[in-house]
Formats: sequence, structure tokens, C-alpha cells
Amino acid sequence: MVGSLIPSSRFLAVKMLKNIPFDEAKVIVELGPGTGIFTEKIMKRLNPNTHLVVIELNDVFYNNLAAKTKQENCHIVHGSAGDLEKILSDLGLGKADCVVSSLPLSNFPKELRVSIMQAVLQCLIPTGTFIQFQYTLQSKKHFKSLFKHVSIDYAAFNFPPAFVYCCSNS
Ligand SMILES: C[S@@+](CC[C@H](N)C(=O)[O-])C[C@H]1O[C@@H](n2cnc3c(N)ncnc32)[C@H](O)[C@@H]1O
Repeated sequence: MVGSLIPSSRFLAVKMLKNIPFDEAKVIVELGPGTGIFTEKIMKRLNPNTHLVVIELNDVFYNNLAAKTKQENCHIVHGSAGDLEKILSDLGLGKADCVVSSLPLSNFPKELRVSIMQAVLQCLIPTGTFIQFQYTLQSKKHFKSLFKHVSIDYAAFNFPPAFVYCCSNS
């Protein structure tokens, strides 16, 4: 479920954050923050009026992140990405402008992978962006079946090197 032995590099973080619409977004969601390598950097660039919803399943990662996050507009949630719709609704938030995911989707059983992606599609605004890194190109076909536009960037300075998918329907 964790999918990696060491946290992602700052080089991968730059590529993951590059397409987040920080200026316009009302709601940004991060799935699978782990130790919070991307979370910290997103929080630094977050507008005061933008909500960041961070969803982590693992108890230890969740507790650590929750303990060190004090920003009022950052919601650290202990739960599963598959419950995204309920989580946003419980927080009284609308749909997300952007979902940034580090979930190890290719390690998941197909059923879970499909249901998480359905939840993401359901919760994105029509012009929303989904950003996901993976260590292989295995998910390309799946993402292309869900989104009109899929671009792929490559972060060589990461262990292992990673592909960054940026997906949208507009
Ligand atoms: C590859 S780690 C990524 C950590 C960090 N973002 C990074 O890039 O270094 C994946 C994270 O997803 C979390 N995770 C796995 N399944 C999840 C789920 N269904 N919902 C939310 N988080 C999940 C794991 O606990 C882990 O922290």
C-alpha cells in the first residue's frame, strides 16, 4: 500500500507541482501524502482562500502529518482515497480543481484502482486536473480511457525515476 521505500525527491516534487493551478484553485486534494514531501511544498504555495484536503490511509503517516499541520485551510484526513466524495462533502467543500496523487495505483487490485479513479472523476470540476506519478508507463492506457488529455513528464532524478501524468478533460 505504501509503494516506495524512500520518499520522493525534490526534483519529482517540482514536476508534480508544476501543473497545480495555485492561483485559481478553490480546492486542491492530495492523495497518499506519506511523509508529506509534496504536502509541505503545496502548503507553502497555497493561497489563503484555497482549501487543501490531504487524505492518508496509514496511521503513522497520518498522525505525523496531522501533528505538524497547523494551517486552517489544510485538512489532514485519516481515510481512504476511495471515499473522496464523502470526505469533501463532510468538510462542506465543493468539487476539487486539482487532485494530486502519489497512490501506488499499479500495486492495487484492479477493483480498488477503478473505484478510486471513479471517485476522482466524480469529484473533479469539469476543467479539473489530475496529477499522478508512477514508476512505469503501465497506467497510460487506463488514464487515456478516462481523460481526453494525458501528458507525461519524466523525473530522472528520483529513486526510482518516475513518470508524472497530468490528465484533464478540457
Ligand atoms: C508511494 S507513497 C507516497 C508518499 C509521498 N507522497 C512521496 O511521494 O514520497 C504512497 C502513499 O499512499 C498511501 N495510501 C495507500 N493507499 C491509500 C488510500 N487508499 N488512500 C489514501 N492513501 C493511501 C500510503 O499509505 C502511502 O503513504
